Amino acid sequence: MGRRQELEKRQSLLARFGRMVAAETHFDGLLVIIADEVRNILSADRCSVFLVDAYKGELWTRIALGMEEKILRIPLGQGIAGFVAKTGSAVNIRDAYKDTRFAQDLDRITGYQTRSVLAVPLRGRDGKSLGVFEVLNKVKGSFTEEDEGLLRILATMAATFIENATLYEELRRSHLETIYRMALVAEYRDQEDTGRHLRRMSRFSGILAQGMGLPFAEAEDIRYAAPLHDIGKVAIPDSILRKPDKLTPEEFDEMKKHTVFGSRMLANAESRLLRLAAKIAVGHHEWWDGAGYPYGLKGEAISLEARIVTVADVFDALSSKRAYKGEWTVEDALHYIEERAGKQFDPRVVAALHDKFADILQARDEENRRMIEDEVAILRHLLPADSQRAV
Ligand code: C2E
Ligand code: SIN
Ligand code: SIN
Ligand code: FE
Ligand code: FE
Repeated sequence: MGRRQELEKRQSLLARFGRMVAAETHFDGLLVIIADEVRNILSADRCSVFLVDAYKGELWTRIALGMEEKILRIPLGQGIAGFVAKTGSAVNIRDAYKDTRFAQDLDRITGYQTRSVLAVPLRGRDGKSLGVFEVLNKVKGSFTEEDEGLLRILATMAATFIENATLYEELRRSHLETIYRMALVAEYRDQEDTGRHLRRMSRFSGILAQGMGLPFAEAEDIRYAAPLHDIGKVAIPDSILRKPDKLTPEEFDEMKKHTVFGSRMLANAESRLLRLAAKIAVGHHEWWDGAGYPYGLKGEAISLEARIVTVADVFDALSSKRAYKGEWTVEDALHYIEERAGKQFDPRVVAALHDKFADILQARDEENRRMIEDEVAILRHLLPADSQRAV
């Protein structure tokens, strides 16, 4: 290729990079796209994006080990990437094995043979070190000064997008955390196994939603909104809420108000998840045949999300101990719900419970094994796996 065509090709790849990266808001997807595009633009065999974990004083990146993906962590200052992160200067070498800074361990783990390395720092808006951009093994020859300039430009572009995606993740994370902690408030007053019922029914709700064929993102929303279904119970007097016996009809009428209280607490929220939670709170004791409360809605007049959550909630209420009742076996709980398909419950949701029963039981076991006092465990459950890292 002539020099001119080479330049044109690079320019068009650069423009493409900007478009593709700007279109991706999901953090993980962003890193993959950045690495792929940069590799392509620089005619390198590999590109790694190392990110700083300031809390741990480490750099981390994702590496492929055969079919598996692993997070690799290296201390700041170690290896070439560590050197670049620490000093802020770029490194361009022809033969990594002749450079004392090069950490050979990584090659040993991955079976990769590194030759040429070009690495530049990734800096945030305020000059803060975000990580390192590294390309390995130029396809022909070694990396030029022009390559270095190009990688610096790409690093600047990528840094902006990485910072934005990080902010977005943090926001999402703290939002989910707040929602879950609000739900815990209500649960603390209600039951002894604080948190467990919420974690289980939240998982069940997500599994049922997916089992009904809802898109993953919608199932996730239902999962995260579900723990708020009984938030209205904070407004119910202890004498009723914690009564160890059957409720009188008057007391039960009081209790029924927790649905309306909950929806009032959550109504007209700015947040999509809170608005969804309001629908679930008001609808989670309605019955498919219209015999439920508070409004006696029937069939599809009840929101789908509420129809899903009610099955998750009742299944868990039956199969666990309450102040007023003992624990049923999971089989009895399943049979009870199956018998009431088309009466109390939406038959399609019951079918999903039947189909996904193994997954439900597995989620139940996992949640029961967690230490309830372990806040980290609560947070881990709370947050999607992909947002669990500090950047
Ligand atoms: P919860 O304990 O979270 O129960 C949620 C739903 O699970 C109940 O909604 C009901 O549909 C189902 N469920 C729970 N335990 C049983 C049971 O032993 N047998 C049957 N057949 N179904 C059960 P429901 O009935 O509308 O109750 C709403 C809430 O009212 C309950 O939430 C609980 O906080 C309270 N509650 C209901 N019945 C009693 C009671 O007899 N004594 C006390 N202290 N509270 C009760
Ligand atoms: C290092 O930074 O020393 C490791 C380089 C690599 O193989 O990715
Ligand atoms: C949340 O993230 O809002 C809590 C939902 C859950 O516990 O899965
Ligand atoms: Fe309820
Ligand atoms: Fe519940």
